[in-house]
Amino acid sequence: MQAHKRCLISREDIARRVQELGERLSRDYQGRDLVMVGVLKGVFIFMADLVRALDFPVEVDFVRLASYGKGTESSGEVHITKDVEAPLKDRDVLIVEDIVDSGLTMDFLLRHLAGHHPRSLKICCFIDKRERREVEVPLDYVGFVVEKGFLVGYGLDCGEHDRTLPEIYVVETGKE
Ligand code: IMP
Ligand code: MG
Repeated sequence: MQAHKRCLISREDIARRVQELGERLSRDYQGRDLVMVGVLKGVFIFMADLVRALDFPVEVDFVRLASYGKGTESSGEVHITKDVEAPLKDRDVLIVEDIVDSGLTMDFLLRHLAGHHPRSLKICCFIDKRERREVEVPLDYVGFVVEKGFLVGYGLDCGEHDRTLPEIYVVETGKE
């Protein structure tokens, strides 16, 4: 059954914010050897927009993670189903993620990538969702802070539905 969705972040607001993030990254990483590591699948739209808002070349790579969990909650038991392929040693690495919720996925990935001994390791996430945070992870670049709710669109899905919507929606449960 399709739940009701309410538009939370418009295309215009997304585009403006991605541009601002791109400008900040361009200032901070100008002249550096940056590898952006995106977390599949949710990040593919944000990352595609973000790299085109940069005024310097970057290398892109991806990981895919799975957490054993059911429904909309992550269990914290994260494992890698596709690892990085680019060499990261002594390079500036920026993890790019769609949304940070409990923080367990980012915490795992930070430790994993730190093992490659990058020169620097930071996080850029499109949405920082605060309510269920269990592990504090340093979010260096944040698109939007959202207190709570299950979000879809702009890469985010609910059981593979609504990922391709150009805006961010909040799924309103109990109102079907
Ligand atoms: P965490 O480990 O709890 O921080 O979960 C992070 C992952 O859960 C994200 O990368 C998303 O794949 C998924 N997730 C968390 N909240 C949402 C949401 O509101 N919409 C869609 N996916 C979400
Ligand atoms: Mg994700």
